[in-house]
Amino acid sequence: MGNVIISGVGLWVPPNSISNEELVNSYNAWAQRYNQDNAEQIAAGALEEKPYSSAEFIEKASGIKSRHAYVKDGILDIDRMRPKLAPRADDELSHQAQMAVAAAKKALIAANKTAADIDMVIVSCAYTERSYPAIAIEVQAELGIQGFGFDMLVACSAATFGLQRAHDSIKAGSARCALVINPELISPQINYMDRDSHFIFGDVATAIVMEQESTWNSAHGFEVLSSRCVTSYSNNIRSNFSYVSRVTDEDPFANDKLFHQNGRKVFKEVCPMAAQHIEDHLAALDISVSSLRRWWLHQANINMNLLISKRLLGRDATADEAPIVLDTFANTASAGSIIAFAQHHEDLERDDIGVICSFGAGYSIGSLVLRKR
Ligand SMILES: CC(C)(COP(=O)(O)OP(=O)(O)OC[C@H]1O[C@@H](n2cnc3c(N)ncnc32)[C@H](O)[C@@H]1OP(=O)(O)O)[C@@H](O)C(=O)NCCC(=O)NCCS
Repeated sequence: MGNVIISGVGLWVPPNSISNEELVNSYNAWAQRYNQDNAEQIAAGALEEKPYSSAEFIEKASGIKSRHAYVKDGILDIDRMRPKLAPRADDELSHQAQMAVAAAKKALIAANKTAADIDMVIVSCAYTERSYPAIAIEVQAELGIQGFGFDMLVACSAATFGLQRAHDSIKAGSARCALVINPELISPQINYMDRDSHFIFGDVATAIVMEQESTWNSAHGFEVLSSRCVTSYSNNIRSNFSYVSRVTDEDPFANDKLFHQNGRKVFKEVCPMAAQHIEDHLAALDISVSSLRRWWLHQANINMNLLISKRLLGRDATADEAPIVLDTFANTASAGSIIAFAQHHEDLERDDIGVICSFGAGYSIGSLVLRKR
């Protein structure tokens, strides 16, 4: 079996952006009204007062300045505090498939491939908007791809885990050329009434074409030297939204059904795990950390990325070594490391080595070590 090449990457960015200031103004107006409306119960200790959010805190604590939203309408409306998406009929393209197709088309162009070249489609992301039929199969039909497709959910590590599936499938011969797509439509799962998490996420879609070296004919190819995944159970990042709510008689949209986390614990526990994972993965390939040309790291928090690279390098990584895209994209779940790759790969020279690494809920950590061809 020959080498496996990442031959193209695509990034689709929703046209709507929301700044920290816009988000904080809306949340604070909502919180003020809540506190006024519930003043008596708050005074009696029956309800907790809603604390105020701050744009300065958000930027300092996370590195985020703004985020994109697939649909902005409704998010800043204090009578709604969630996006308003138009429903789509069964015979219309779903929202998430639309995002996925937009990113996939860009990846196909970059890879110099057409739909006829693809034989496997993986849609891998943190949430899918329905259980079945798979979004991947809908995308497959929309693009006119033969072969097979399936969806995967691995929270923030969905992209790297999906790429590992593609890598293994191509090596095993069950696929020749795969499209791995991450349509991260997170905004419907954000609790915009929760000060601790209302600022964290943004929507985006990324896609990667991976193929056998024998068919590779694009401008920028990266040989996958190795892919590695690990999971370790944790309750510190959860979303309990489920079809089961219908029969447990719980409120299907209660706070615990939306994204929630113990951010401090996640920070403390995941940073050393991710650093160790990267170190072990490189060691297994006899590659020294200092010889890495680029780190395309998961984008959850700038301080996390700085800590991980400092732990491994013994110094701060430069923006050229470990680019950050959080400022304008925020945390885009699994797409973050792929956005970094999409925006920062063309300058690498032949034989330069880089690592894509994601980490997040599960906990889950995934990495791919790449060599520029
Ligand atoms: C979420 C995160 C940015 C919060 O930053 P932090 O430095 O840990 O902040 P803390 O949660 O410790 O909060 C510090 C204080 O700021 C407050 N605070 C939280 N959100 C705030 C906001 N939007 N505005 C103002 N203050 C806020 C907290 O309530 C806390 O107040 P206290 O000290 O009086 O209790 C950070 O923990 C993080 O990114 N963790 C990793 C999360 C992650 O990667 N998750 C994966 C998602 S898939």
